[in-house]
Amino acid sequence: MARNPNESIKARHVLYCAGTGGGKTTALHRAHEMGLIPKHEDVIIFDTYATFTKLGGRRVFKAKTCKAFYHNLIKLRRQSKPFVLALVGKRTLQEFEFFQKVAWALADGNRPLHIINEELIRFVTSVSKADGQLGENYQGGRKFGLVCHSVFQRGQEVPKSVLRGSQIKWVGKQDDYTDAEYWSKKIDIPADDIAQLVDLEYYVKRAGINNVTKGKLKPLPRRAA
Ligand SMILES: Nc1ncnc2c1ncn2[C@@H]1O[C@H](COP(=O)(O)OP(=O)(O)OP(=O)(O)O)[C@@H](O)[C@H]1O
Ligand SMILES: [Mg+2]
Repeated sequence: MARNPNESIKARHVLYCAGTGGGKTTALHRAHEMGLIPKHEDVIIFDTYATFTKLGGRRVFKAKTCKAFYHNLIKLRRQSKPFVLALVGKRTLQEFEFFQKVAWALADGNRPLHIINEELIRFVTSVSKADGQLGENYQGGRKFGLVCHSVFQRGQEVPKSVLRGSQIKWVGKQDDYTDAEYWSKKIDIPADDIAQLVDLEYYVKRAGINNVTKGKLKPLPRRAA
């Protein structure tokens, strides 16, 4: 059960949206450089395609079954060292729900836990709101130190509660002008400017009006991707 609620913790959920090759996975690897996933904080990854051998230069422990993931996570959370643990392999909706529930169970307001949901679209059944425990982690996780990171290819795929619940929006190259227009109002940047982004370029919007910065990610060394 989530413990040690701390109302003073600021919400810092992040969404990442770009067309294929736009730099979403690279952004996760570089998240520490953007201040989104500090290296001294714990991370779990729902990694359907076993994409992550490392994360931001940190070793990634891998679990191939939900049971192993659960036991490893309990063990790692008991140790003082920060870690990255991935549940790898193809998963069902029920297993996605289990992953979210395990995060909630081990949430602790005194020790942040980042949850990375790659390819979230495969595990949400409605864009009107986030289902089940995912929604709970977004809405209630803040004071228990949960930080949700979700990845999408198109804005229209993002459930509204994830969109509203993500205080930080990372927007990379879009597939077409409609997608650029979609993000324009949400990140206070003209659609024409968003439409001009190329692979690895991005805008990141943080809480507040006009709080947007532009940047370009360094590509990853081949082996780290
Ligand atoms: N090691 C590398 N060296 C140079 N360029 C790279 C390297 N790895 C990836 N890239 C380029 O960086 C860009 C971003 O790749 P990345 O995998 O982060 O995109 P993505 O948005 O996650 O794509 P996808 O939707 O396919 O998962 C791509 O254009 C890719 O060609
Ligand atoms: Mg990717």
